[in-house]
Amino acid sequence: MADQENSQGECDGATVGILTGGGDCPGLNAAIRAVARRGMMYGWRVIGFRNGWAGVVERNCIDLGWRSVSGILQQGGTMLGTSRTDPRKSDESFDKVRSVFDELGLEALVAIGGDDTLSVAHALAKEGKPVVGLPKTMDNDVQGTDYCIGFDSAVTRVMEALDYLHTTAASHHRAMVVEVMGRHAGWVAAIGGLAGGADFIIVPETRMCRSNLIAHLERRQEAGRSFSIIVVAEGAIVDGLELIEPDLDARDEFGHQLLGTKQIGQRLAEAIERESGMESRVTVLGHVQRGGPPSVFDRVLATRLGVSAADMVRDKQWGFMPALQGSQIVRVSLDEATAGNRKLDLDLYEVAEIFF
Ligand code: F6P
Repeated sequence: MADQENSQGECDGATVGILTGGGDCPGLNAAIRAVARRGMMYGWRVIGFRNGWAGVVERNCIDLGWRSVSGILQQGGTMLGTSRTDPRKSDESFDKVRSVFDELGLEALVAIGGDDTLSVAHALAKEGKPVVGLPKTMDNDVQGTDYCIGFDSAVTRVMEALDYLHTTAASHHRAMVVEVMGRHAGWVAAIGGLAGGADFIIVPETRMCRSNLIAHLERRQEAGRSFSIIVVAEGAIVDGLELIEPDLDARDEFGHQLLGTKQIGQRLAEAIERESGMESRVTVLGHVQRGGPPSVFDRVLATRLGVSAADMVRDKQWGFMPALQGSQIVRVSLDEATAGNRKLDLDLYEVAEIFF
């Protein structure tokens, strides 16, 4: 049960829960703070479940009063903790989720997450449970929103890394392969690469052939460019490139393979060195992309989405999530949001390509 240490004053209104699920990213705390603060305006008692859906199953929650959400806007990660728990894996745990509303007197639940977390929220909403979503993922691949919380901070990290890698690549005349996150979509690779001046970008949406890449790098060398920076998304497919056989058992509860084991960046750097003779190095940016404080954009986006999610609870608009479309926050159904991964807009790729 929730501990009371952080509650302030009397709240005779509704009790509303919040959780953060899936991979963490900068901006989650800003969203928690926004839901909680808007909720307090409405006189609600706001509670936070620890570690995503696991906390709902285990009834592991804390009160989110003024004091507990104060000073978290600028902190990365999530004060609630997270996990990749899919409660639908067992009837028993999904029943525990279903019964949490009556058991804790919960009037609503705000689920902050990417497609996996939102798919659980969607399943509950279809059963008539009072749930709203809130899109976050540094992969930026949730349908119905132009931006998810965490993406802008992640591409800022990628851009900064490319800025640093440029000087060492130029000094040593090397091919530098930079592996970034992006399981199903190339948003991080394309936008981070575009902002950082990448000389080649490989994304899951465009099938790439190893020999074309090598030929491109050789043409650059002949044209007098003594170094190249190649950004590759972890989920990209490069025809003709041998990868480490993925460990098929190494999957999370939502069935996703752990892509790091494929070592696409390492394999690419080896192939470039072997076939073009260019000395090559690989940098796997990994979880640095998800760490640290949120960018200006993510703080503002998370705050706007959090306030809007609370307003949707007020309006009892279950089965929806707030989303950014253009410069407006709109309400999008979880039906639409979870209908598949949002793929990279190839117009953006074509802009990046001009500079290869
Ligand atoms: O879901 C976002 C993501 O960043 C993916 O791009 C990546 O494959 C995955 O998380 C890795 O996360 P973890 O190591 O936490 O399982």
